[in-house]
Amino acid sequence: MSTRTAHQQPETHEWRFATAPGGLPLIGHAVLMARRPMEFLSSLPAHGDLVELRLGPNRAYLPCHPDLVQQVLLNARVYDTGGPVKEKARPILGNGLITSDWADHRRQRRLVQPAFHTSRLPTYAEVMQDESGAEALAWEAGRAIDVNHTMQALTARVTARALFSTEIAGNAVAEIQHCLPIIVHGAYRQAMDPTGLLAKLPLAANRRFDEALTRMHRLIDQMVEGYRRSDEDRGDLLSALLTAEDPETGGRLNDQEVHDQVMTLLLAGIETTASALAWTFHLLGGNPEVEAALHAEVDEVLAGRPPVYADIPRLDYSRRVFTEALRLYPPAWLYTRTTTEATELGGRPLPPNSDILISPYVLHHNAELFKDPESFDPDRWLPERAKDVARGYYLPFGAGSRKCIGDVFGMTEATLALATIAGRWRLRPVPGATIRPRPHMSLSSGPLPMVPEPR
Ligand code: HEM
Repeated sequence: MSTRTAHQQPETHEWRFATAPGGLPLIGHAVLMARRPMEFLSSLPAHGDLVELRLGPNRAYLPCHPDLVQQVLLNARVYDTGGPVKEKARPILGNGLITSDWADHRRQRRLVQPAFHTSRLPTYAEVMQDESGAEALAWEAGRAIDVNHTMQALTARVTARALFSTEIAGNAVAEIQHCLPIIVHGAYRQAMDPTGLLAKLPLAANRRFDEALTRMHRLIDQMVEGYRRSDEDRGDLLSALLTAEDPETGGRLNDQEVHDQVMTLLLAGIETTASALAWTFHLLGGNPEVEAALHAEVDEVLAGRPPVYADIPRLDYSRRVFTEALRLYPPAWLYTRTTTEATELGGRPLPPNSDILISPYVLHHNAELFKDPESFDPDRWLPERAKDVARGYYLPFGAGSRKCIGDVFGMTEATLALATIAGRWRLRPVPGATIRPRPHMSLSSGPLPMVPEPR
């Protein structure tokens, strides 16, 4: 990063451009990206504000300076979703918020936004309270659980029930819990395969993936069809999608479009929130002072009862803990954009179809942006300290017109889960277990054994 502070305006900035070191003939940086992507990408801000790397025959660009990241994210027309990753995501997600092109995305966003309106959140929060409470009741003192797996199951139940509030939701939850991990894993394998051949081989993993995808599509079709028949607003996400009207055109989402949005919400909303919650418990397990402060807040605000939606504004520390976990382990650690026309970034001309890598992980671990970036310090989010975090330094939910539509949903879900569990349990790390970030579709902890101790 250049010697100027990251606050300064791009017009006055002399951007440093660099080519990433360590590239090999033909494959470029593909092996480094496959083997140690986080270490490799995090080393690049030291080389420049915009760094070029080669993934096989393709060039990709990592903006390391927050102003350049903002320039990309705030210009969704020129820096659109695209490239090979999107092509591979289309058979899975169809044409929903994540995969749609800029022009259609604006229409889709207008139609999906009402489903996430704050007026609907108290209803979703009831599901969150209910499921977190049931989870906290199910644990046994002294019996180790895999916290990552448990959080995945919890957020799957919450998201499925927030989507489909009907009585058949029980079957839907089981089906989603079976199919989703297989789809997420398969999608990541395919996204990482530069040849595109892996998906075509007659492998057992491919068969499992195809079967899980077929089952998920079938389940969503059945749900959409069932809801269409009755035409009643059940207060859930699916009803909101089916009844939404575009304020500009009066148009609605057709059944296929609703289907694609449901698939998108399931894929975008479950793993992300679960991974971040798992990391939060891992961090609490290694930081007893933070854990004690969290328990003190929960005891003071809730006095032994489970939290409800109305408590959230007073669960300030719980929120800071989760915010800090999202900084250290942002689930969406890497995502991409592709230029739709010739443009210029940081003084560098970019041809059409240039791939841009956006990594919140790289920003969040940059010592020029965050003091002691590796320390778990929820109080860095106290208002008097958080004012030093300029726009664009902290991007767990992205920015611009494609910013996460479920950000408030996810924060509410996580705060309620954290406060519910912290009110009853302390999770102790299992000695000898090695936990390291696994940069897959989301930044996962992998299996995370911890032992619940009653408080
Ligand atoms: C802690 C939890 C979450 C994190 C860290 C997260 C992160 C993100 C990020 C970084 C993006 C932007 C990606 C890009 O710009 O390409 C995004 C988009 C999205 N997220 Fe989330 N997300 C979370 C929870 C959720 C939840 C709970 C839902 C839904 C229930 C959701 C649904 C979506 C959707 C549909 C998009 C695409 C939005 C658009 O393009 O208009 N996310 N998320």
